[in-house]
Amino acid sequence: MLIEDDPQQAEISEDILESAGFSVRSFNSIAPARDYLRTSTDLIDLFVLDRRLPVKAGEPATDEFGDELLKEVRSNHPDARLIVFTGFATIRHIQESLQGGGQLPAQDGQPIDRVTVLEKDQSLEFKEHVVRFRQLLQSLDDIEIITPPGSDPLDELDKRVLRRLAFDYRGVSIAVASLGGGLTEASVWRCEINRSEGRVATVVAKRVKSPGSSGGLPELLPRANTTATVRTLSGLMAGGYINVLQVAGEAPYALMDIIAARPAEAVELVRPVWDALHGVAALRRTLTVADLCAPLIDWARLSELLATYGIPVPAGSLAVTTQVGPRHGDLHPGNVLIDNGQAVLIDFDSEAFAAGALDPITMLISTLVHPASPIRGAAWPGVSEIELSFATGDFGRGHPCELWFRSVLDWISECRTSEREFWALVLAYAGRQVRYQDVLDDREIVERVIAIAKRAAEALANS
Ligand SMILES: Nc1ncnc2c1ncn2[C@@H]1O[C@H](COP(=O)(O)OP(=O)(O)O)[C@@H](O)[C@H]1O
Ligand SMILES: [Mg+2]
Repeated sequence: MLIEDDPQQAEISEDILESAGFSVRSFNSIAPARDYLRTSTDLIDLFVLDRRLPVKAGEPATDEFGDELLKEVRSNHPDARLIVFTGFATIRHIQESLQGGGQLPAQDGQPIDRVTVLEKDQSLEFKEHVVRFRQLLQSLDDIEIITPPGSDPLDELDKRVLRRLAFDYRGVSIAVASLGGGLTEASVWRCEINRSEGRVATVVAKRVKSPGSSGGLPELLPRANTTATVRTLSGLMAGGYINVLQVAGEAPYALMDIIAARPAEAVELVRPVWDALHGVAALRRTLTVADLCAPLIDWARLSELLATYGIPVPAGSLAVTTQVGPRHGDLHPGNVLIDNGQAVLIDFDSEAFAAGALDPITMLISTLVHPASPIRGAAWPGVSEIELSFATGDFGRGHPCELWFRSVLDWISECRTSEREFWALVLAYAGRQVRYQDVLDDREIVERVIAIAKRAAEALANS
């Protein structure tokens, strides 16, 4: 993207960019450039900006307007390359404040600065920078992507992300199989990365909006039961990140797949993970129920949502005692994979310091509402069964997966600290379901989660 108001200069820059192999979008003022940025989904690798620019063609050009645009571009496109042209009088000052600005992926061990400031007449230097950067992009484009026959085509950004990953391994080709996205529609792929000498990595790549942090559950739990994030990559991916994860096994299946048909086996397989999660160090603390439930849903939002179903939500200021520790945050049985008889936790994107009962309650209710659950929408439990027995020892009695529910409830009893903690989290988890379209589209599921929420709101009010 080239933003330059001097027609002669624009022509020179455009020529240099095009002969280096870039496709160029040119603008002679700020307003149309902004419009384009607001609406376009193009992957923009390079911004070439004049610092002195008019808002609209023909209007007076100033550094202030250019600086504003520069600021926007720097923050909205945090991993793109920027080349800024400025006048002789200000070059030193601008170089000091902008130059560098972080680095882009290294090629031959030589990272490229993200931001370069040049004087107007430095066409030769400009050309060198452009050519070198284009070479970096070409070495990304050179990487072959192999997809299974008949799979959905990848969009430009997906392709870039996958090539960027292979590039990091100095790979020449990457074979990818989509692992689908869950509810978040995140892009997740199983990737085999090859150099010309042969395979160098088999990993899971997940596109995410923000980088994860080090530490937390994957580093606290037994190694056999977790998938670690090997690294997080950024740069040249439209501001996104990829988490690179260890694969959970050659051909794992989800715990979700067996809870209905083989509940006893499911419990036996997941038990070591439950024990390990329960064993993670925690601090006994007294919070407000609003803070307790914040990892699930904002309390005001919850009250608003449930009011439309006629359920009064107790005050968020109620005090509640719990054990706060690192929790998975989205522990439905689709996020537990079974590999060779070993339960392995995946998907730590919702990890948070949170209440001890958060994960077990998620394990309990998610099986009633998760789209991938074999029990969702089944004959059991209907609204009256929920009203009569939810969370009691009778819940699921006589049902084929009775053992699953009894065991999860036992696990909840081990992990929870107070009555209030339990019901507040149940209320928040059930209430937040009516935000999801797949739930709203299914009247029966809505009725069931509302029945759970109602029961929880009453119990919380009486606690
Ligand atoms: N480390 C892994 N090893 C093997 N398969 C994985 C791994 N991580 C994710 N998957 C597969 O990809 C799917 C989606 O990944 P997940 O991280 O759970 O994404 P989402 O946030 O969309 O739920 C999982 O259900 C699982 O089948
Ligand atoms: Mg998941």
